[in-house]
Amino acid sequence: MIQISPSILSCDFARMGEEVNAMYKAGADLIHFDVMDGHFVPNISIGLPVLASLRKATKAPLDVHLMISDPLTYAPQFVDHGADIVVFHIESDSDPRKVIQALRDKNVGKVGLSLKPGTPAQAVFPYLEELDMVLVMTVEPGFGGQTFMADMCPKITAIRQECNRLGLDMDIEVDGGINAETIKQTAQAGANVFVAGSALFGKPDYAAALRTLRENAQSAFSHQPK
Ligand code: DX5
Ligand code: ZN
Repeated sequence: MIQISPSILSCDFARMGEEVNAMYKAGADLIHFDVMDGHFVPNISIGLPVLASLRKATKAPLDVHLMISDPLTYAPQFVDHGADIVVFHIESDSDPRKVIQALRDKNVGKVGLSLKPGTPAQAVFPYLEELDMVLVMTVEPGFGGQTFMADMCPKITAIRQECNRLGLDMDIEVDGGINAETIKQTAQAGANVFVAGSALFGKPDYAAALRTLRENAQSAFSHQPK
């Protein structure tokens, strides 16, 4: 199923609740919540108290992307504060199996593992059967508004093919530089969940921008690898 997940990193943080509800009403499937600790990535964004406030302000499913060094300590707390999906990084300091288990113990909606551009597809293969989602970064994590890395497409395809081989109906999410053009390449490569920050929150008409992304993803989706 194709899903669009607008990233609030590009919204006006002083009006986050309104912005998120406007985007959800306009047709977003998920809301992508980027957490940065200033250690795993060279930037600091938002954390637990902001998630708790947003949870009270919206019914939108919250897709939390943890760009933090210590997900084992913090990931379960994000579930307590309202996350529906929690995605953490394979390059973090924590043992991925322990983090997955800690999230399952909290009955989170979905668990995802993310790969930075320099990490090969094969790194995630040992965990696929324990995951609901794989997030392939298509920029170096840390900042919105960067340029899409087209050379990540073979990695998306390799993960999709391995999931198909294992009979897994995996969500493959892409994040970074996704816009009306680049979304086609990632959908064709095998992605089905699309994060977009600047390509959505920067636009005057959210519904029109979401519709364009969805249509472009759908038209490319039928060409996905088997
Ligand atoms: C980057 C974040 C992304 C970011 C995407 O580290 O994980 O979610 O907000 O922003 P755009 O779509 O502008 O590249
Ligand atoms: Zn993100």
